[in-house]
Amino acid sequence: MNTPVDLSIDFCGVKFKNPFLLSSSPVSNSAEMIERAFQDGWSGVVFKTLNSDRLPIIHPSPRMHCIHYGNSKEIAVQNVEQISDRPLKDNLLECLYLKKHYPDHPVVVSIMGFFEDEWVYLAKAAEDNGADMLELNFSCPHMCIEGAGHKVGQAFHLLERFTGAVKKHVSIPVMAKMTPNITDITEPALYAKKGGADAISAINTVRGISSVGLDDWVPRPNVSGKGAISGTSGPAVKPIGLNFIASMAKCEALGLPLSGIGGIETWTDALEYILLGAGTVQVTTGIMHYGYRIVGDMIEGLSDYMASRGIPSVSDLVGKALPNLYETEAFELDRQGIVQYDMKKCVGCGQCYIVCRDAGGQALDWDRRKRRPGLVEEKCLSCMLCSFVCPIPGLISFKEMPRGWKRRETAVKDPSLAAEMKYEPFKKEGPDECIA
Ligand SMILES: Cc1cc2nc3c(=O)[nH]c(=O)nc-3n(C[C@H](O)[C@H](O)[C@H](O)COP(=O)(O)O)c2cc1C
Repeated sequence: MNTPVDLSIDFCGVKFKNPFLLSSSPVSNSAEMIERAFQDGWSGVVFKTLNSDRLPIIHPSPRMHCIHYGNSKEIAVQNVEQISDRPLKDNLLECLYLKKHYPDHPVVVSIMGFFEDEWVYLAKAAEDNGADMLELNFSCPHMCIEGAGHKVGQAFHLLERFTGAVKKHVSIPVMAKMTPNITDITEPALYAKKGGADAISAINTVRGISSVGLDDWVPRPNVSGKGAISGTSGPAVKPIGLNFIASMAKCEALGLPLSGIGGIETWTDALEYILLGAGTVQVTTGIMHYGYRIVGDMIEGLSDYMASRGIPSVSDLVGKALPNLYETEAFELDRQGIVQYDMKKCVGCGQCYIVCRDAGGQALDWDRRKRRPGLVEEKCLSCMLCSFVCPIPGLISFKEMPRGWKRRETAVKDPSLAAEMKYEPFKKEGPDECIA
């Protein structure tokens, strides 16, 4: 019998039925939308970022573009959307509605101010109207009004100051949403902690240009003949999101709950974030591609995974991959391996031979008559390129070789030129010092 599993998670004292939340974006724009998402199984929402109505918010038009790659649609979305353009009063009413009708579904309200008193005003308004938690948007990469979004996320003292001001005036937990447009995310995260943040979410969209029109020469989206560096989201940014969550989870001085965002479409994407330290995960582009219904597969997939492994609670999975995450200097370089082929499965397409010859170790021979590769083990670099292009799952895998096994060095083209070569081995002069 499979173990019964508990997907619920306590995040900063707020109880979520499962770790799957809508992130702040068009997918969390109104109560009408959010209630349908709740009915489909999303446990909570981060409401589209509220603004104070001090300045009008007008979205550029068109506001999005997307990249298809080969047969894969929407591997990335490019957007220039702003924070909510709805009147604050309407958004607050929507929060009240959700709290009244869906009391078991936490509502996290995202806010963005420009001045300290504006941050405080929005925070109090959200708390007074049912918010279970706040998310401070320090991360939108393309605000049309200067002095907000990722500009604050990159100015660490401001980030600390605004977090501190909000914390002083509300009693609900406060999460700071980080920009990925930074080198080391632990730095701003630590400033948010100094300001009193109870949790960190990451990532917002990555500054990028998804494509340029070849006829009009305008970066996309083409807003009346003008393009801009703007926010990229979706599967293409997942590695960046995973890196930032793992970096913060590894940072002992931080020690705050994390909410993982970026490129999550499936339960396996979500699980990877959880294994690297996220307690909850948030989704936008996956929903912009497939709709709210993807959460059904996420719940089922994660439940089956846990049941089949006898893992009773999702909280048991949080951070489980972190002990296996090292700096590369920890790798045991005396452990080397090669690829191995299960030739019964080979269909003779020759893709492996092409990439090994042009980008690998030239370790494959090609039998033209039989249309089959033949591996010269000593030349294999274990780059695994052949396995990436092989169309047959499980045909090519990695095999560790006994310790002491040596790869053959790549031969030089014309050894006879050695006589003409000018060469002295490098000799270090003076004391050893590292510039890093
Ligand atoms: C069209 C669009 C609008 C967004 N608006 C907001 C926003 O108002 N506030 C915010 O914090 N993040 C906003 N985001 C960022 C998302 O919440 C999320 O952090 C980002 O898209 C990465 O997740 P994803 O790959 O699942 O989309 C927006 C993203 C998109 C694509």
